[in-house]
Amino acid sequence: GLPDRVRIHEVGARDGLQNEKSVVPTEVKAEFVRRLAEAGLTTIEATSFVHPKWVPQLADAEQLFPMLADIAEIGDVTLPVLVPNERGLDRALALGARRIAVFGSATETFASKNLNRTVDESLRMFEPVVARAKDAGVHVRGYLSMCFGDPWEGAVPVAQVVRVAKALMDLGCDELSLGDTIGVATPGHVMELLSALNGTGIPTGTIGVHFHDTYGQALSNTLAALQHGVTTVDASAGGLGGCPYAKSATGNLATEDLVWMLDGLGVHTGVDLGALTATSVWMAEQLGRPSPSRTVRALSHK
Ligand code: HMG
Ligand code: MG
Repeated sequence: GLPDRVRIHEVGARDGLQNEKSVVPTEVKAEFVRRLAEAGLTTIEATSFVHPKWVPQLADAEQLFPMLADIAEIGDVTLPVLVPNERGLDRALALGARRIAVFGSATETFASKNLNRTVDESLRMFEPVVARAKDAGVHVRGYLSMCFGDPWEGAVPVAQVVRVAKALMDLGCDELSLGDTIGVATPGHVMELLSALNGTGIPTGTIGVHFHDTYGQALSNTLAALQHGVTTVDASAGGLGGCPYAKSATGNLATEDLVWMLDGLGVHTGVDLGALTATSVWMAEQLGRPSPSRTVRALSHK
């Protein structure tokens, strides 16, 4: 069966933009987030409090986040931000962030390239972040990257993913997002991982899926996850995205492609597809190239 409702975790302003070469003006980012909220998205990842040299595109987090204060009043909008360490947490808390995400890796190579740490060192780095966030009543998402394949290490064994997933949840994360960072997953693999996670006692209701669409499988993978009981799906407006530290990462599952499928299935998302498409067309103009989303193209060429 399928859920009645899916919560879309919109990552366009963070995952979508972090890999853009030319720096997008802060005002454009704020307008993007505002339009996403007006289109009915309620969980809108806004930016990252990472080292500005590591992700120059998001170096304006201190300027951007306060500009979004009024957006939280549109419906029940929440604006999660990425935080790798205590320094990032301090920055996020100082601006009143109510939801954060730490981001671990199932593979050693990506942990090293993305966080300059081993897998276990990064877990130790997250430990005080999660503890302090929880004390402050802040909701914590734990991202786990390279859950299906890694550009340097190849296929990633399910048991290796399960170990780090469990470790993240044991730190106290409220939610786990399974990242197919480079978009190599196929539906059978998704079901295999979800089944293995079921065996660890991590409730399926706390698991989200985060597919990049490199091989065009993101939507099929999502459907497999929904049939398995998942109700949180990460997507990026217009299919923007990619990770600067993951060779061969392309855009995320496009939110419009997801909403088109869910609308057709009668699964409620609260998103107005017309308003969202218009937002992605506008954002594509800002970036100077068309959206890769099939749904955006189809709906905007009518
Ligand atoms: P490091 O070089 O090991 O940092 O980087 P450090 O702990 O040695 O600190 C060095 C200096 O940086 C210190 O300053 C710190 O204060 C400063 P100094 O004392 O030398 O003057 N510093 C910071 N400054 C501002 N904000 C901070 C911060 N932290 C340290 N937060 C670090 C380690 C984690 C900082 C670095 O590796 C980093 O920022 N990485 C972020 C990479 C990133 O954002 N990647 C993209 C997001 S992950 C992703 O896209 C995947 C996902 O979408 C899911 C999927 O698709 O799989 C989530
Ligand atoms: Mg990603």
